[in-house]
Amino acid sequence: MIFPFRAIPTKNPFILAPMAGCTDLPFRLLCKEHGACLCYSEMIDCHGLVAQEEECLGLLRTTVAEQPVAMQLYGCDPGMMGEAAAILAGLPIACIDINMGCPMEKIVQKGSGAALMKNPRLAEKIIASVCNNSPKPVTVKIRSGWNQHTINAPEIAKIAEGAGAQAIAIHARTWSDGFTGPIDHRAILQTMENVSIPVFANGDITSHEQGVALLKKLGCAGVMIGRAALGAPWIFSGAVNQHPSMAYRVKALLRHLELAETYLAPEPNLSKIRNHAWKYFRGTTNGPAIRKQIDAATSYPELRTFIHNLAERVFRQ
Ligand SMILES: Cc1cc2nc3c(=O)[nH]c(=O)nc-3n(C[C@H](O)[C@H](O)[C@H](O)COP(=O)(O)O)c2cc1C
Repeated sequence: MIFPFRAIPTKNPFILAPMAGCTDLPFRLLCKEHGACLCYSEMIDCHGLVAQEEECLGLLRTTVAEQPVAMQLYGCDPGMMGEAAAILAGLPIACIDINMGCPMEKIVQKGSGAALMKNPRLAEKIIASVCNNSPKPVTVKIRSGWNQHTINAPEIAKIAEGAGAQAIAIHARTWSDGFTGPIDHRAILQTMENVSIPVFANGDITSHEQGVALLKKLGCAGVMIGRAALGAPWIFSGAVNQHPSMAYRVKALLRHLELAETYLAPEPNLSKIRNHAWKYFRGTTNGPAIRKQIDAATSYPELRTFIHNLAERVFRQ
């Protein structure tokens, strides 16, 4: 298959979904090391970026080793989104994504994120503005619609394609579904039928096998994984046991800590790192006791020492 969107290889089209508070540079690098073919950043406020707010500038951190990476913008002002895109286009990134799926009240209230599914004309202006201001490919992450009565992903995807987008990721739930309920495979298929650009399926993929099965079933260009990758970056690799040993989990966590120490200031990011660390022990026998200890760490050195001591014990067994 030939993709106009060259960031996606056909061999292992597993993509890390954008997740605010989670898909920072260390985690993206880790997912890349485990086989993710494209990783999305946390969402970045276009206004904050244009105003050069420190918090937004921190989200721009990237490195050659993580390429290809996509950085995601959100906002509802076409001019501002264009200005922000021009800033992102100056970075060594593979593409720029537009967030049209975030359901959070504070985002939707202002007309951004998933609210754009209700406003195709504004969405078109935003996508065109971002494309006109970026020589880099632009992707758009959408939902299946605003609610079950207004499924319009195929129409929105067509508009996005016409405005210059080079790929669509679809979280196949509506805004009103939030993050639960069944994934609408029909909406994905109808979206694929309506456009000639690649479509990535997203929502509730909980294992590598499930991703492979979905690729086969739908024939989509890629599968995008969010929550199931947290504490389980091996989900991107077809070569790893999807229920790995404690030693494998701890090894992955140690690498995560190493990357966090290299690319983040660990102490101010303690709660974020603790949240990641917690997830490595999902479903394990000693998980609850380990998580208690992770919670009890009041500083990064304390957390680090606990994990390193745990590793020593686990590797000795
Ligand atoms: C903690 C968290 C943060 C998220 N942040 C973003 C975001 O910044 N941008 C976005 O487009 N979607 C965001 N999402 C949605 C995910 O990208 C994804 O569409 C959703 O979780 C469904 O995929 P999953 O079932 O594989 O998790 C977020 C989801 C979670 C759980």
